Order: sequence, then C-alpha cells, then structure tokens
Amino acid sequence: MGSIEQQWRRGFSRRQALCGLASFLAASPLLHAQRDPYPLGPHRRVLGFDEMRTAFDFEPVFHDNVPLAIYDYTAHGTDSEFTLYRNRDAFDWVELVGGGGVTPAEVDTSTELFGVRMDSPIMLAPTARQRDLHPDGELGMHRAATSAAMTMIVSNVSSFPFPQIAEAADGPLWFQRYATRDLEGNRQVLDMAQDAGCQTVVVTIDQQASYYERDLHDRNLGGAPRRARRRTPQNPPNPYRVGAGRLWYEWTLFDDLRPMIEVPMLAKGILTGEGARKCLEHGVDGIIVSNHGGRSLDYGPSTLEVLEEVVEAVSGRVPVLIDSGFRRGADVLKALALGAVAVCLGRASRWGLGAFGEPGARKVIEIINTELVHAMAAVGRTTIAAIDRSIVRTSFP
Ligand SMILES: Cc1cc2nc3c(=O)[nH]c(=O)nc-3n(C[C@H](O)[C@H](O)[C@H](O)COP(=O)(O)O)c2cc1C
Repeated sequence: MGSIEQQWRRGFSRRQALCGLASFLAASPLLHAQRDPYPLGPHRRVLGFDEMRTAFDFEPVFHDNVPLAIYDYTAHGTDSEFTLYRNRDAFDWVELVGGGGVTPAEVDTSTELFGVRMDSPIMLAPTARQRDLHPDGELGMHRAATSAAMTMIVSNVSSFPFPQIAEAADGPLWFQRYATRDLEGNRQVLDMAQDAGCQTVVVTIDQQASYYERDLHDRNLGGAPRRARRRTPQNPPNPYRVGAGRLWYEWTLFDDLRPMIEVPMLAKGILTGEGARKCLEHGVDGIIVSNHGGRSLDYGPSTLEVLEEVVEAVSGRVPVLIDSGFRRGADVLKALALGAVAVCLGRASRWGLGAFGEPGARKVIEIINTELVHAMAAVGRTTIAAIDRSIVRTSFP
C-alpha cells in the first residue's frame, strides 16, 4: 500500500465516516418532517395549488416558502419528539370498521356546540404568530375558516390584535388565553376578547417548559435562536430547561378566571380522567384533550389513546374536544367515534397558510372535511350524531 493510501486509512476510519454520515442525517431538517406518509425529502418538484390532494401535500410547499427557523418552529416537538410521532402512530392503532350503503351526498357533517350550530366538527386550533407564515396571518386564517364554515380559535400570541382578526371576517371566533399571574392583566385581555365578540374562551394549561431543540440545532445551521429573541420579564433567559412563564398553573386558576369570563370556558391540555374531573370541580365548561401537538411534555401518550378515559370521567357533563396529530378526515372520524365532539387542526392549518396564504388555509381544511364526509359514507354514517364506538376497533399498546 502506498503512502497516500496509508494516510487515507489513518486519517478517516470507517467508524468516523459512519459517525459523520449519522450526524449529517441527524442534522437534516428534511428528516424531521411530520412522519406520515413519507418524509419531506423525496419530492422532486414543489406541487402547485391545483395539485394539492391531502394535508401532507402542503407541508413541503410551506417548508420551501419560509426560513428554516420558521418551519422548525411549526414542526418542532418537545425533546426527542416521541410524543409528536406517537400522536400520528396512534391513528394506526384504531381501525375503522363496518359500513356501506351510504353515498357522500347523503352525509351531513353539521353539529352543535354550546348551543351554536357548526357546519363541521372540525375547528382550527390556536397557534401563535401566523404572520410569520404568510403576510395574511390570522386575518387570512379567519377568512379561510369563515369561507369553509369552520370555527377558528385565536391564539393569545397572535400576530394581529384579536379585534382586528374579528373584523377580518364574519365567522365564529374563540379566544385562547395563556393566563398570567397578574390577575388584572388577564381581566383586561379577556374583556378585550369578549368585547370583540369571542364566543368561548380556551385556557391552555399544558406547561411548555423546554427548549425548542430544533432552534438550538439551527444555531449550527445559521438559523436565528428565536426563543432568545422573545424573552420577556415574565419569561427571563434561562440557561437550562424551565421557562418561568407557564409553570405556576394550579387548578384554582379556573376559579380566579371564571368570574372574568361570561362565555363558556374550556380547559386545553387535559390528558387524564383525573385532570378532567378537577376541571369540572373548578367550573370548566368544556375540555380539550391536547398534548399541544407533542410540544408540551415528551414521552406522554398520544391524545387519541387517552380520549376515552377523559370522555368516561366527564360522562357527558361537558363537551370533550381533541387535538394533536390530526391530518386526515379519517383521523377526525376515529376521534368522534371515541367520544370527541369536535377536532382541532393545528399544524395542518399552518401548512395551508404557509404554503398558499388564505386560499391554502381554506383548501387544506376543505380537503380534510371532504375526507371526513367520504370516511363517514364509507362506514355507513350520515350524521355526526350517528357516529358511535361500533365503527372503530382499537389496539393501543
Ligand atoms: C407552531 C405552533 C404554535 C402553537 N401555539 C399555540 C398557542 O399559542 N396557544 C395554544 O394553546 N396552543 C398552541 N399550539 C398548540 C395547538 O393549539 C394544538 O394543540 C396543536 O397544534 C395540535 O397538534 P397538531 O399541530 O399536531 O395538530 C401551537 C402549536 C403549534 C404547532
């Protein structure tokens, strides 16, 4: 063996090569795409608006439209992202059975929640800072929800003020609040939202306490450390895990907020029967089973797995809604069969907005609603009220 080959052997072992390849793969944002049905990577060209067929089609377009840090902020799940992926895996453990004899034309997806008729049990989950995705931001999202006849929940940390979003379209709006310790501060914000016509207040209580690790990783790729830019006195810089902003919540929070809220008050972020019972003891009018799309505590279960436990604990006293991982109409149908009255879309709606603005947001929710219609027809159900446990078979591990 010549000296060059000798140098090559010494300079770059097989082990080092494999390590290098592994770190290259681990660094690839493409591998971190939402897992179903295939990773972002393999697309050869970006699909056009008219080619969109499923919610997943929108994600690569969104990915290609925005800086990596913006994409990663949406895609991110906590820590190892176990729960992020489990939210999707859980749909594989619920089979849809039975049916026949119904055409899509006969299906009616309308339903009622808090005495208000809704054309569909699908709603838009509150997600922050939508102008980062597209200049239309929440204004476009509200117009899209209105034209698709769906209810939007506006995040506490929206890019536009709630009254401006309310004016952008006529459709129903709910308002989501991350409560602060300063009770008066809560009152002012809740008054503002109720004065602007919010029909329901959602209080999010799951406790995000980690880094956004994709952001940390993006430092190496030249991405902006977004979290660092958004520090406030309530949420000071912290070299380790725990942000100060949301780790103080106790069940009595609902007792404090209740007198400030004249519309129904929902708790978002409930994952156990015990938690649901506590909510009812403290005056909550509805529950959203949510793990924040895998962004709260990692290694928790998917929301689909715990849905029935919560529904049983509540036993019809208040409505139970669900989110986290919903991308298809069949996903929605499974949750309805397990006892949810409505399903909220988080990332799917952001993919639509980030890909094509308001028309994209409208299209993605219309696609999922059409899929729901087809899935209901396939299992032989013409109305939401007719959907029951008998159309699913579960095999959760
Ligand atoms: C980028 C992003 C921002 C979010 N911002 C909020 C928020 O401001 N308030 C809130 O209660 N939940 C927020 N969530 C959680 C969603 O309301 C919802 O629980 C979650 O997105 C559902 O999971 P999915 O994205 O898999 O559908 C956010 C989620 C994402 C992905």
